Amino acid sequence: MKKIQISPSILSADFSQLGNEIKKLEEGGADMVHVDVMDGHYVPNLTIGPPVIKALRKHTKLLFDVHLMISPVHKYIEDFANAGADIITIHPEATDNLQDSIKKIKEFNKKVGVSLNPESKLELIENSLDQVDLVLIMSVNPGFGGQKFIPEVLEKVKKLKQLRTDRKLNFDIEIDGGINFENSKSAIEAGVDILVSGTTIFKSNNGNIKKNIDLLKSI
Ligand code: DX5
Ligand code: ZN
Repeated sequence: MKKIQISPSILSADFSQLGNEIKKLEEGGADMVHVDVMDGHYVPNLTIGPPVIKALRKHTKLLFDVHLMISPVHKYIEDFANAGADIITIHPEATDNLQDSIKKIKEFNKKVGVSLNPESKLELIENSLDQVDLVLIMSVNPGFGGQKFIPEVLEKVKKLKQLRTDRKLNFDIEIDGGINFENSKSAIEAGVDILVSGTTIFKSNNGNIKKNIDLLKSI
């Protein structure tokens, strides 16, 4: 069986203790840290930006999996690259030219992710799949943690996995939103390689992060 990776979303962490929360993720066996960046424009919520990522960078060696829900995203890529992002994921609708934005992320030697909202079609990124390291399938409408998983997006995961095989490509498939101990199995079976999870990791089992990561990995 393939090894599933876990990318906990710090959106559900205690924001007054972010350095410690990230240490707990590292000790708990997280494979990376998912950072949700929201601008109050592309999505109806505001979170954190480059200065916070920069401050956190020295607290961990874990990869920073930075999910940009901001528009227009292009002009901010440099700031996130310099702040210490390792993977920079953008939404195709949030840039005027997806090719240019992918190129810009690569100029900073960062891994490139592209993300599809539940209603967004694969066609939006189909021609770019050979240039990306990761495809992030949203299983909730982006903007908030703690929402309900939308199972219909698993069809998109399956199609994506098939395209990857057909074209002999190597990108990872990541899923984000409403992942819990009940639905993670179906996501993995559909072809997901990386599970993002906020609420389940930080709030289940009285916030026992290690236990929750172990449980998600063992399903
Ligand atoms: C939603 C974010 C997600 C989300 C994950 O816009 O991109 O990363 O916060 O949190 P849960 O697991 O609580 O849905
Ligand atoms: Zn996210």
